[in-house]
Amino acid sequence: MKYVIGIDLGTSAVKILLVNHTGEVCVEVSKSYPLIQPKSGYSEQNPEEWVEKTLEGLSELIQKFQGDIKDIEGISFSGQMHGLVLLDQKHHVLRNAILWNDTRTTKQCQEIYETVGKQRLLEITKNPALEGFTLPKILWVKENEPDTFAKAHVFMLPKDYLRYRMTGKIHTEYSDAAGTLLLSVSKREWSSELLDMFNLSPSFCPPIVESHECVGLISDEWARLTGLSRSTKVFAGGADNACGAIGAGILSDGKTLCSIGTSGVVLSYESRNDQDFEGKVHYFNHGEENSFYTMGVTLAAGYSLSWFKKTFAVEEGFEELLHGVEEIPVGSNGLLFTPYLVGERTPHADSFIRGSFIGIDASHESKHFVRSVLEGITFSLNESIEIFKNNGKIIDTIVSIGGGAKNDVWLQLQADIFNAKIVKLTSEQGPGMGAAMLAAYGCGWFPSLKACSEVFIETAKTYLPNNENVEAYKNLFVLYKKIYSQTKMLNEQLYEFRR
Ligand code: XUL
Repeated sequence: MKYVIGIDLGTSAVKILLVNHTGEVCVEVSKSYPLIQPKSGYSEQNPEEWVEKTLEGLSELIQKFQGDIKDIEGISFSGQMHGLVLLDQKHHVLRNAILWNDTRTTKQCQEIYETVGKQRLLEITKNPALEGFTLPKILWVKENEPDTFAKAHVFMLPKDYLRYRMTGKIHTEYSDAAGTLLLSVSKREWSSELLDMFNLSPSFCPPIVESHECVGLISDEWARLTGLSRSTKVFAGGADNACGAIGAGILSDGKTLCSIGTSGVVLSYESRNDQDFEGKVHYFNHGEENSFYTMGVTLAAGYSLSWFKKTFAVEEGFEELLHGVEEIPVGSNGLLFTPYLVGERTPHADSFIRGSFIGIDASHESKHFVRSVLEGITFSLNESIEIFKNNGKIIDTIVSIGGGAKNDVWLQLQADIFNAKIVKLTSEQGPGMGAAMLAAYGCGWFPSLKACSEVFIETAKTYLPNNENVEAYKNLFVLYKKIYSQTKMLNEQLYEFRR
């Protein structure tokens, strides 16, 4: 039996899957690490922590593995997108990584628009300037930490840095390069026009390869530290959302994904590079060669639920927290939640907005709050679905992965709010599975990712919309959407009180 490993370098943890040639997950290990949030709007991690936890996780996985380590043929990666890792000439990390959910860069986004022009930026990168993307973070370091920036030789994205530590080779691949705001998404090359405008040298950007490309073997040191064979091939991997899409079989036009991890995304496959969504949704290169996807992002999806648990129910596990929410009626007895804990991306690119509970009543118990958090996260994702539908996409079936696919009530809630059939797969580990599939394809087990998906991906259950709930949620969604505009100014005024 042959095996591959998929490493998903997430925001809250690194999740590692050992998958056999039929797509069965044989061993699964997860190691968590914290976010560093020194100020409101800041979100960082120490790249060394990613390395340590991955080494720990891989050794644990190898200890649990019963077979011959030489049968583990390849490893690939999925990674949290956009995070900035800066390396000096000797490839040492210069500062903590600034992550995708860090929103300190509103000023730099404005500068990007002033320098490039909104329209030209959209033409080149297919995306607007958003705080989470990498270029604004590069400009922030340049302006605020000039001594550090003066030493910066090359920038990397999170999983690319981890792979560099495993192989000693510096690369990125198209799906993650697309989220930097420095790539010409349709031409698939670093934009020399943008690099010139911001006085960045082409050598500041890592060389780009395909996601399934073999970039080398694991180093002697990593083989020794993990117990893996020195002959294990390492494949480039992809952005977590691209890998989530691969791992859920979103590999042809018309397929849609809902992935709820720390962030939440609704993603739709695109075979073309010339569609125009006017920047309302992200438009990125896929992890499959020469294909693309469009995507709306809720910054704090699973994060809203874990924030709620950490703040109000620290003793409870997630299962316990969600236990009984099915008994709470649709609309949580008049309680609405907006998940803007760290600002928002789609449809409101706004780093100042913050979350609300609207309609708190003396009769509400903690279960009403939990249900309204689930409903609010799902309403927020429905705003992305609405953009897709308004652009003529038919969205009647959605594959759901991530934490949001672990719970029956939440899956039914997705069917009712999205008014679509929801498909749950046998493994909800989309990004890690996608990474493993890139390794399987790279190893030559299959002629294409699609062929791999036919063997690896299996439907476990489907959830159909309940008409009565669909109607109730349609009415509540109208109210939900009003909260943004009605709390926007208040939140701007509250900004000076945030520390
Ligand atoms: C996508 C985004 C998030 C991260 C989460 O643009 O910022 O979904 O990829 O890891």
